[in-house]
Amino acid sequence: MKTVAVVGSQWGDEGKGKIVDLLAADADIVVRFQGGNNAAHTLVVNGEKFILRLVPAGALHDGKICVIGNGTVVDPIALVEEIENLKSRLRLKDDALLKLSYDAHMVMPYHRAIDRAREARLGKSAIGTTGFGIGPAYEDKMARIGLRFDDLTNFAVFVEKLERNIRDKNLYLKTLLKAKPVNGAEIIAQMRRARTRLMRYLCDTSTFLHEAIAAGRRVLFEGAHGVMLDIDHGTYPYVTSSNCGASAVFGGGGIAPGELDAVLGISKAYTTRVGAGPFPTEIKGKLADALRAEGDEFGSATGRPRRIGWFDSVLARHAVRLNGIWGLALTKLDVLTGIDPLKACTAYEIRGTRYEGIPPGRHMLERVKPVYEEMPGWTESITEARSLEELPSNARRYLARISELSGVKLAMVGVGASREATIVISNPFLT
Ligand code: IMP
Ligand code: MG
Repeated sequence: MKTVAVVGSQWGDEGKGKIVDLLAADADIVVRFQGGNNAAHTLVVNGEKFILRLVPAGALHDGKICVIGNGTVVDPIALVEEIENLKSRLRLKDDALLKLSYDAHMVMPYHRAIDRAREARLGKSAIGTTGFGIGPAYEDKMARIGLRFDDLTNFAVFVEKLERNIRDKNLYLKTLLKAKPVNGAEIIAQMRRARTRLMRYLCDTSTFLHEAIAAGRRVLFEGAHGVMLDIDHGTYPYVTSSNCGASAVFGGGGIAPGELDAVLGISKAYTTRVGAGPFPTEIKGKLADALRAEGDEFGSATGRPRRIGWFDSVLARHAVRLNGIWGLALTKLDVLTGIDPLKACTAYEIRGTRYEGIPPGRHMLERVKPVYEEMPGWTESITEARSLEELPSNARRYLARISELSGVKLAMVGVGASREATIVISNPFLT
């Protein structure tokens, strides 16, 4: 297969970064198509740790083209910082390796200010956003007052639009949100500097991708967040402001449905979520603390401790159905070493009624009780395993059951943080 999308099947942080990094070795082009720097993909390459927020993971391989598609929202200041950081670590040396869509929307400092002020005002009912202005930037896109990189081509006109937005946003910040207004002159100066740095990357990425696909090049679409954070199919309003499933590849990447060959779903061997909202299989106390420490479950974008729970096959089936998942990459299996018994959620229950899928009306998710199946654990270290045969039999049994419950075959299993610590059962680019 030549074109593959990687999507998160839980609440983000499934370890997509590592799997994308691994698959990037076989791809020519790696594309981000939705979200912004609220995403943070952590990768460990030869012991060196990278956190990528906007630049696709292809940047860690020599000669791969990285595309930031039209469906993303990009903070120009954050992007310049990320590029500088990568260049200082000898990546993205050639500017031709990064292509930024003219049509991608810009996240402005006022979006960040609004995001934070709103969350503060919500108090206990806050969503727990990353505070990076993602929601407000997508709102402006839909309201047709957003600024796109395309606008940078005529800076005088850009400044006019920007000043109009700043006036409106400051009024909103001051009067409604009782927050500090943003400094217009400073923003204009920042955007002037960002323009000088970013114009060289602008590209009609939709046409570029279409031509690349037509020429038979391998393209990897790197999803951010996860299906449960999807604006339509997730736990609204505790979601992010974009579609994060495979459907977003078309809108946000600018390619046609027939141009995508396969979708690889990524899921942890357990579940985590950051921010507020329902989480049926959540566990608390000592076991959660142990898993959090062992799995280093702290948000890479914000440093917040992640909430921890058992694997939830109801969510997995939801993700498989919505995304047409071809295979599942199950990550961080090693984190479960030493835990006995292991539990996996097979279905939900509400007052004696059993649900195999998410009960109709998403508000019901707050009330469901998970039905668990227990499985025996293992104690042997598994980080050196590179094939299923090298795993303890209880680990193999756990994997087989997860696959069966999810209704999809396993394509990969992560057994450690590094690129190499992966059992590859089938690589979509090589099938
Ligand atoms: P926002 O995307 O910053 O608006 O945050 C909305 C919700 O999505 C919050 O619960 C965030 O914690 C969550 N979120 C956004 N991006 C990610 C991610 O990449 N991983 C995990 N959670 C995320
Ligand atoms: Mg993340």
